[in-house]
Formats: sequence, structure tokens, C-alpha cells
Amino acid sequence: MKVLLVEDDKVSRIAIYRYLSENGFECISLRSVKNALDVVFEQAFDIIFCDINLEDDSGFSLLEKIRESLLDIPFIFITASNDDDIIHEALDKGADDFLRKPFHLENLQTIIKRNIERKKIDFIRRSSNKESILLHAIKALIAALEAKDSYTSGHSLQVARYAHMLGEALGLFAEEQFILELSALLHDIGKIGMPDNILKKEASLQDDEYNLAKEHVIIGSKIITEINDLQEVATIIRHHHERFDGKGYPDGLKGDAIPLYSRIITIVDAYETIRAKRRYSDQQSMGYAFEELIKHSGTQFDPELLEVFIRMIRSTLSLKEKPKLQIE
Ligand SMILES: [Fe+2]
Repeated sequence: MKVLLVEDDKVSRIAIYRYLSENGFECISLRSVKNALDVVFEQAFDIIFCDINLEDDSGFSLLEKIRESLLDIPFIFITASNDDDIIHEALDKGADDFLRKPFHLENLQTIIKRNIERKKIDFIRRSSNKESILLHAIKALIAALEAKDSYTSGHSLQVARYAHMLGEALGLFAEEQFILELSALLHDIGKIGMPDNILKKEASLQDDEYNLAKEHVIIGSKIITEINDLQEVATIIRHHHERFDGKGYPDGLKGDAIPLYSRIITIVDAYETIRAKRRYSDQQSMGYAFEELIKHSGTQFDPELLEVFIRMIRSTLSLKEKPKLQIE
């Protein structure tokens, strides 16, 4: 654990430095705001202790610069003052705690532990909040899309489920799975801007209608690119109708040049579309769906991914069909 100590009083500085060093902390001790600014953005500190009155400036100016930079390190003021106004001002400006002079050196460890724990909890709370707001917004977007065409209702969710299963079979990490599933959920979000007469048309589309329908990958990608954290998802959506042989759209990417998660979605999207009952088609068997996919292996679909997908669906099914163990 690395501590930055900014204190111009020599006796306090040496006492705190010695105590922290003897108790397993790495401590950098400095006397001025200028010296502190030289190191604080260069090195990674876990906590800062800072006197309010320093030889060249006030500790407040160090605090302000750190908070302006969005560096989220616990900042503890060391002060001999009992002035409530100073305490309130410090808290308003983002100080986390106070160490009042005179103090017992033993209190330092408690203050360090308490403030680092608080920051961690704060971080978890903020990130889970952000995530749940984002997920709610995404669910609302998908509901809006599916409200346009009740026959495709559930398609995005089912595609995301299959993508999750294939991701697991490929050994993706949790964060990678999150990106893949979000992309699968949102892959057709661009259809939200598509005219109903094209979206719901049962007969095959005319050339100009087909060209308009193809735009959904670009529209979807543009919608999602507006969300800062989801740039990768926007790219995956853009390429989910590319073909392995390079004859897909919108960019005609070929083979491995197509993002991996787009290649996954291409397969599971096709499988779900064949298997589900829609206004324009009946539900087809698993065997029929596999035959259709295999026909296009290496042309539309990545052959290696397709093989893993088929094997994974078959083994999931055989697991389901295994008789339950009889326990006596
Ligand atoms: Fe699509």
C-alpha cells in the first residue's frame, strides 16, 4: 500500500513516515504542494495525507487539482484546526476524512483502512448502478423494437441465449460474455427505424426494399455508438450480416477480418430464425436447421465456429435427455 504524505512540519512528517514504514506501508513524504503535484499523477498512490497549511500553498489547492483530474484517491487532511467552516469547505471540495493534531499514530492504520474500504464500496455502488441503468435502457430499446412486430418477439433474447451458450463453449471470460450477449440482444436494433411495410412483408423483398432493409446494420451501429462504453458492441452489430466468403454486407469483410462476436451472432441468429415459428415460416426441427447451416458452412458461416455450435447444441440436448439418476 502506497501513501503520499504532504506535511511541512518536520516533527509530524518524520513521525508519520517512520510509523507507516515500520508497519509495512510504502510512504513518500514531501513538504510542498508543488512537490506533491510532481509525483501524484506519475505514481499510483492508495491514499493521500495532506496538511492544510503548507510552505508554498494551501492543501486545498492540491485537493482541487486532484479532484479536477478525476483521480479518485482517498484524500485525508491533517489539521490542528477545530474551525467548522474549514471542515465543511474541505468536505465540499472532496476531502474524505480528517486527522486532527495531536493524534495517536496508531489511528493512522484505522483511517487508512476505513477510507480505502469506503472508496471500494463507492466504486462498486457506482459501477453496478451504471450497469443496471444501462441494462434497463437496453431492455427498453429492445421492447420498443419488438413492439413494432410481435412475431419477432423474443428473437433477440433467444439469440442472446444461444450466443451465451456458444461463448461458454468457446471459453470466453465473463467480460467478453457480457459484450457478446449485449451485442446479440441489440443486433437488430437498427430495424427500429425500418418502415412497417418492409419489416412485416411476407413475400420476398424487391431490390430497393432489400437495400433499405440492409441499412439496419448501419442504423443499429449508429444508435449504439452514441453510448460511450459500447463502441465494441456498435462494431459487432455493424458486421453481423457479413459472410465468411466476403459476400455479405455492409463492408464485404471476409473470414477472420469479421469480428469474432459478429461471426457468432451470424450463426445463432440464423439458427434461431429457422427454429422459431414466425408469421412467414413454420417451426423447423433441429436436424433441419443443422442441415441448412451446414449447407452454408465456409460461405456464409465460419466453419470452425459452426462445428462448435452444432456440437454444443447436440451435447446440451443429450444432457437434457439423459434419465435422472435414481436415488434410493
Ligand atoms: Fe440482422
